[in-house]
Amino acid sequence: MDGNGRWAELQGKKRVKGHEEGAEVVKKITTYCSKNPDIERLTLYAFSTENWKRPRLEVEFLMKLLEKYLKNELTVYLENNVRFEPIGDIRAFSKSLQKTIKDVKEKTAHCDGLVQSLALNYGAQDEMIRAINKIKKCDEDITETMLSNALDCNHNVDLLIRTGGDHRLSNFLLWQSAYAELFFTDTLWPDFTTNDLEKIIKNFTKIERRFGGLK
Ligand code: FPP
Repeated sequence: MDGNGRWAELQGKKRVKGHEEGAEVVKKITTYCSKNPDIERLTLYAFSTENWKRPRLEVEFLMKLLEKYLKNELTVYLENNVRFEPIGDIRAFSKSLQKTIKDVKEKTAHCDGLVQSLALNYGAQDEMIRAINKIKKCDEDITETMLSNALDCNHNVDLLIRTGGDHRLSNFLLWQSAYAELFFTDTLWPDFTTNDLEKIIKNFTKIERRFGGLK
């Protein structure tokens, strides 16, 4: 979800306004995906292990925004049968934010529609290290399945979209994206619409996916 800061600056507003607008887009895209039965899982990169390097005030704003979003969204998750499954190492967050994250996760655990994952203090390298540390004590050789199951997310990514014009993965779901189809758009996240998503999905469905095999 890249481009919040630039979106705000282009309008002469503070960067954090872009995050606020970005949170509105998260709501719209999540609701849209919850109504499309072909979409099982939507994972959104909300805060990376590297985002702590940002100015303290921006980090604090993002933490407050996340807490507010989660508290407000609980009813929307329930109305739309969305299960909330965060990924990342949330132990670095305040006790109050950790509690809100756990609460929303527990209260939506019975929902069997879309799974919405927010990547929170998430980095793929950190996820892999935590996974290896979980399984390193076993005597057997580590297998793909063992590592996959120890990751925060053990689902493969089909379609990965990055907004904001950069062409990189920035430490997002690197293991799970081994055969993901990658889409990059110059549109800044606050301008990204359900129409944009629909067009990307249409193009995605035309791709012949071979997973390293032949036609
Ligand atoms: C990247 O844009 C975006 C982030 C680091 C945070 C993403 C957060 C949101 C979309 C809002 C909060 C999320 C939720 C779920 C409530 P950037 O700041 O790097 O933008 P720039 O590249 O234009 O500077």
